[in-house]
Amino acid sequence: MPKDFYTNNNLPEAIYPSCPINRVLEGQTAIVTGSSSGIGKAVAIELGKAGADVLINYSSNKQSAEEVAKEIQEYGGKAFAFKADVSSEVEVQAMFSEALNQFGSLDILVNNSGIQQDAPIDEMTLEQWDKVIGVNLRGQFLCAREAIKIFKKQGVKPEISCAAGKIICMSSVHDIIPWAGHVNYAASKGGVLMFMKSVAQEVAPHRIRVNGISPGAIRTPINHEAWSTPEAYADLMRLIPYKRIGEPAEIGRVAVWLASDNSDYINGTTMYVDGGMTLYPGFESGG
Ligand code: BGC
Repeated sequence: MPKDFYTNNNLPEAIYPSCPINRVLEGQTAIVTGSSSGIGKAVAIELGKAGADVLINYSSNKQSAEEVAKEIQEYGGKAFAFKADVSSEVEVQAMFSEALNQFGSLDILVNNSGIQQDAPIDEMTLEQWDKVIGVNLRGQFLCAREAIKIFKKQGVKPEISCAAGKIICMSSVHDIIPWAGHVNYAASKGGVLMFMKSVAQEVAPHRIRVNGISPGAIRTPINHEAWSTPEAYADLMRLIPYKRIGEPAEIGRVAVWLASDNSDYINGTTMYVDGGMTLYPGFESGG
């Protein structure tokens, strides 16, 4: 269990829960985009622990993707790495047909791929804008479209799940918290929020569930700068009422629950997994 090495409050040490392994996704198959590192990797591993077969999508780091696949195989599931840029229509289509070739069906899509390319707005290049919107928003559309085609064709298989398919859209607290210096990222995540809800409304009659997860500050490479020194960590804690950073596996476990029949009546909802970051921490005192 990782120790909170930068505890800056009077708790003895931050406590991270461990959870028993629960095979709630036995017999189900999943695609997790961007799962060679960070939150996507943890989501893929937790799905694997829960019994799912998983396609590990990556854009450049083949070796890490293969390591994630290997770890899932150790839990007894099938898993393989597949390179595809989620903003490319042909590459996304190739990925979905390979998943069907290898697994024979698809039950879960975790639309996770996301990048940041930060700059003040008057210095942001069109390339930085297009790249972030391309991966974070267009990528979610391209993948959801392919998954929904498959889910509609398959219909409900009651022995597998109450739903014909489940989509989880990885968003961010920045789908509702504005973020200066990151306008491309915040705009993409605001887009993901309304994309998720609109798709959920459209496909619910087909028994397809679409939900979002909005992580706050999670210990991954994307925000290394915000937690890797005691000063930065202390600064970050001003934004988190729960006074600790989140761990990737904590997002993974929420994904497992949202993908399982335990959440079957949940549709079009976002789970904010953020230690209270969206609770206006500036108002802890004053106002
Ligand atoms: C961003 C991180 C940031 C967190 C909280 C995430 O969506 O990718 O860089 O630390 O939001 O601000």
